[in-house]
Amino acid sequence: MATERLVLLSSREIAKMRQAGRLAAELLLHLEPMVKPGVSTLEINDEAERWTLAHGAKSAPLGYKGFPKSLCASVNEVVCHGIPNAKQILRKGDIINIDVTPLVDGYHGDTSKTFFVGEPSPIAKRLVEVTEECLRRGIAEVKPGARTGDIGAAIQEYAEAQGFSVVRNFAGHGVHRVFHTEPEILHYGKRGTGKKLRQGMVFTIEPMINEGTWEVEILADGWTSITKDGKLSAQFEHTLAVTDSGVEILTLP
Ligand code: MF3
Ligand code: CO
Ligand code: CO
Repeated sequence: MATERLVLLSSREIAKMRQAGRLAAELLLHLEPMVKPGVSTLEINDEAERWTLAHGAKSAPLGYKGFPKSLCASVNEVVCHGIPNAKQILRKGDIINIDVTPLVDGYHGDTSKTFFVGEPSPIAKRLVEVTEECLRRGIAEVKPGARTGDIGAAIQEYAEAQGFSVVRNFAGHGVHRVFHTEPEILHYGKRGTGKKLRQGMVFTIEPMINEGTWEVEILADGWTSITKDGKLSAQFEHTLAVTDSGVEILTLP
């Protein structure tokens, strides 16, 4: 989805990204208590939309390339881009990734987490924990002079050592005034390859890790991506800035 040129953000622009990132993180915290058996993904969407507008922001996903709702809600075998739906009722034992992107004063804050609905199965718990650790290890690679391939390699090495697989069809992305732009951040790859990171780059890392095969299918709605084998998929996402000496996570409350 890299569609525009790679830009380096000024400290003024990074301050704007920090505001957007904080609102995104606070939105996830606000939605978390709604993640309960019996709640529909549309109810979560509608509360997110209301809360976002009440905080003077807009939901960037709504209408983005035709996406019909305000957030992505991806349950169990849904890898990403699940469309909130009144008929999709959360059940005990489900896992659900909620991915939000408020647009605050022209800047996007993009973050997601995978939540448990009630008590998770042992495999769901392990997949979600490993996926969060993949994001943490990817972030730990970020500093000026490192390469995008270092991030992907760190994620792939850990996920595969744990017996899981890394989705290849979707990537992290530059994000600022533009929702999806350069650089592309693959969640697999080789150390020492890819673009060199520089202070002022802002991008997401958002690994999707599968229980079984990494292969996905897109449903007829044109958005919903599911695992080809129907097994579980989890995802975590942060928006990050490369600083003079390392990394700043922008999507923290
Ligand atoms: N927030 C998603 C991402 O992490 C993008 C969603 S695009 C949408 O890149 F149109 F599906 F909302
Ligand atoms: Co996102
Ligand atoms: Co993203």
